Amino acid sequence: MNSTPNNIHPEFDRQITRESKEKLLGQKGLVIWLYGISGSGKSTIANAAEKVLHKQGRMTTILDGDNLRTGINKNLGFSDDDRRENIRRTAHIARIFAQQGVLTFVSVITPRHELRDMARDIIGDDYYEIFVNASYQTCEQRDVKGLYAKAAVGEIKNFTGKDSAFEQPVSPDLTIETETQSVEDSVSALLEAIRVKTSD
Ligand code: ADX
Repeated sequence: MNSTPNNIHPEFDRQITRESKEKLLGQKGLVIWLYGISGSGKSTIANAAEKVLHKQGRMTTILDGDNLRTGINKNLGFSDDDRRENIRRTAHIARIFAQQGVLTFVSVITPRHELRDMARDIIGDDYYEIFVNASYQTCEQRDVKGLYAKAAVGEIKNFTGKDSAFEQPVSPDLTIETETQSVEDSVSALLEAIRVKTSD
């Protein structure tokens, strides 16, 4: 009888090690999991931080919820089950990138504790959780994508923070307050956190 189900025979140990890849890149892999409601600033901060790191010679990638939902997560909507599958897939992809030594930004709402716990379980020690915080009212005023206006008139169902819950985090590794801080200050806080986290 096989020791793994369904005749699957993983062979991770025959592949080039993470250590060798990190040596090649001269950096350590990490998943920077940015979460918060739509319009809170996750992608803005991730995009700006990535540009700085790229200039510094770092290998980075961004896994953005909206982008992933045009491809690998195209078949998922916004029910609790679909959001769970969205986070499960995203966490596994992020894990693979981190194992290659890549600084991996993830930008997904991740509305519930259960989902953040799952991401942490899948990714393990490489998981660094950052809550990007702005109130519903502020995001509604920004309404960068016009979604809040649509949600207000009932054109979007299960909208996070309205008729689908966003559970306020209890103990994120870091909180970035985009309501009171400038984009520049938010990006600086993020970069400093990454610097500290990858230097130990
Ligand atoms: S998550 O809840 O499963 O983590 P994800 O980050 O992938 O969400 O996708 C959120 C993005 O989808 C939002 O930034 C927004 O552009 C879009 N969107 C479309 N419908 C909804 C909805 N009902 N609730 C939240 N975001 C939505």
